[in-house]
Amino acid sequence: MGIRVTNLVKIYERTTILHGISFTVDDGEFVTLLGPSGCGKTTTLRCIAGLERTSGGVIEIDGQVVSDVQRDIFVAPHERNLGMVFQSYAIWPHMTVAENVAFPLVVRGMRDTREAVGWALDVVGLGALAKRQPSELSGGQQQRVALARAIVGRPKVLLFDEPLSNLDARLRDRTRAEISRIQKELSIPAVYVTHDQAEALSMSDRVIVMDAGRIVEEGEPRTLYRRPTSRFTADFIGAANFLSLVYRDQAWFAPDGSAVRLADIEIGDTGETREAVLRSEIVGVRAADAAIPKDSLNALRGTIENLQYMGSHIEYSIDVSGVLLNALSNEEFAKGAAVLVTFRPQDIHLLPKPASAV
Ligand SMILES: Nc1ncnc2c1ncn2[C@@H]1O[C@H](COP(=O)(O)OP(=O)(O)O)[C@@H](O)[C@H]1O
Ligand SMILES: [Mg+2]
Repeated sequence: MGIRVTNLVKIYERTTILHGISFTVDDGEFVTLLGPSGCGKTTTLRCIAGLERTSGGVIEIDGQVVSDVQRDIFVAPHERNLGMVFQSYAIWPHMTVAENVAFPLVVRGMRDTREAVGWALDVVGLGALAKRQPSELSGGQQQRVALARAIVGRPKVLLFDEPLSNLDARLRDRTRAEISRIQKELSIPAVYVTHDQAEALSMSDRVIVMDAGRIVEEGEPRTLYRRPTSRFTADFIGAANFLSLVYRDQAWFAPDGSAVRLADIEIGDTGETREAVLRSEIVGVRAADAAIPKDSLNALRGTIENLQYMGSHIEYSIDVSGVLLNALSNEEFAKGAAVLVTFRPQDIHLLPKPASAV
């Protein structure tokens, strides 16, 4: 068992930052906490690391309770056997690469660190640079030194807090792939914190979406992306269109009066309104007089309200009876053109009823 967080509460002064969050990370699993700035990701990570005292709840690492205020249990950070990588590399400038990587072992009183350091540097591909000074390294290399230092003690858990945000775009992609590879190779359970949806979707086995100190929902990247169960997730991950559908005559109707076919049939009450999610990049745009193929495609009538040429595609804003839908397409349409917005039944789904609407 990797990590189990149960009902974690964190209160600063009188402000509650974490409102009782629970999740688990299995052996070898890569789990990402994804959410906007200030939602409590770093605080959660620091509680797991023991850099913060919790105000309530229980944290277990590898089956051992490391934080439980009620039972007065608090295991010090250096006894939790974790590897951490931060946004700032936190590399000591006056030590060589090898000395930096050896540091956690030296602190623990280990004398001969050579073999462990050699192993860690090889894993991150820096074996040849052991004697360099950090100032002689690029940003990406420094971050890899931080990664080597995090794994050198063979930790039970790896914690990452926005480790890529100080790197430029190209390096970020490379380091992202590198971190994924190393985590899978070592099979150490990892908690990764980011506000970047691309990082979360591409690296994680499971993504936990957070908002304002609470978990909104969690799931595998594909499920979260394709079938979010909350408006918050749909909005935060990817470019979502929201469309109100009304139920009558045994079907759901879009604002333009077209019946919409759904892959998962849901029967509503007559006059009931539900919000549906439709991803911008899976919406097709066709000329209004185009023949609709007989593959049970949905087609809404709209007018091009606005467009932006993006090179690889064009971003359209389409007015469908007063509702603006975003669509990405390669086809050229002029502003004001009458079009059909098409999508497959499996590419639209209803959000659950709001809790208040009974
Ligand atoms: N030491 C602290 N004292 C008081 N408030 C804090 C402290 N650290 C963080 N906060 C507050 O807790 C909230 C969550 O912060 P944080 O966990 O850093 O969010 P994130 O990492 O998701 O951006 C923020 O509103 C932040 O202002
Ligand atoms: Mg943070």
